[in-house]
Amino acid sequence: MKFFIDTANLEQIKEAQDLGVLDGVTTNPSLMAKEGISGDQKVTDHYKAICAIVDGDVSAEVISTDFENIIKEGEALAKLDPKIVVKVPMIKDGIKAIKYFSSKGIRTNCTLIFSAGQALLAAKAGATYVSPFLGRLDDIGQDGLQLIEDIRLIFDNYGYETEILAASIRGPLHIINCAKLGADVMTGPLSSILGLLKHPLTDNGLATFLADHKKAAEANA
Ligand code: E4P
Repeated sequence: MKFFIDTANLEQIKEAQDLGVLDGVTTNPSLMAKEGISGDQKVTDHYKAICAIVDGDVSAEVISTDFENIIKEGEALAKLDPKIVVKVPMIKDGIKAIKYFSSKGIRTNCTLIFSAGQALLAAKAGATYVSPFLGRLDDIGQDGLQLIEDIRLIFDNYGYETEILAASIRGPLHIINCAKLGADVMTGPLSSILGLLKHPLTDNGLATFLADHKKAAEANA
């Protein structure tokens, strides 16, 4: 399973990269705004800064919602760095744009996927990734994990190469369950990735090992 971090915060991206398990980054306009990034030049510089840190794919989302401008924006983003994957919303013009980008060899991430039908359509258009937002489905009382399972079944039935990028991850258990269901990638906050480290028995076990080692060293001194 590939691990992406879902943030535009450079410090957190560095921390995840330093851990040695990072495969990429996803951003969105809200995450960019949270870091105070706006305006063409600042946005461009920020994507370049992310690409300089990360050894992997970097999803950069278009703001346009009409075909012509999605293409214009997406082509400009793709030119910034070979790591850039153009993130396109699941709308009619978005699907047309994904088809176009795929014919030009530009990789895409179809975002805001909330149904299996949307994922199927994006895969047919040639999306590199589809991003089902499981946390947001859970938030409204629907079953986000069921959506991951449904998309996995459909993609496997037809051999679609589009990767399932489980998004809107809320915690370590989401990551584990997505891995069990065969999601290709997960994107989540640093806290969810670091949450995988934790188990009280590990902490207790390590404390005992170190205490026993110290006792033995003192006895032999
Ligand atoms: C995916 O690429 C999105 O950026 C993200 O996962 C949305 O998650 P949220 O529901 O935590 O905002």
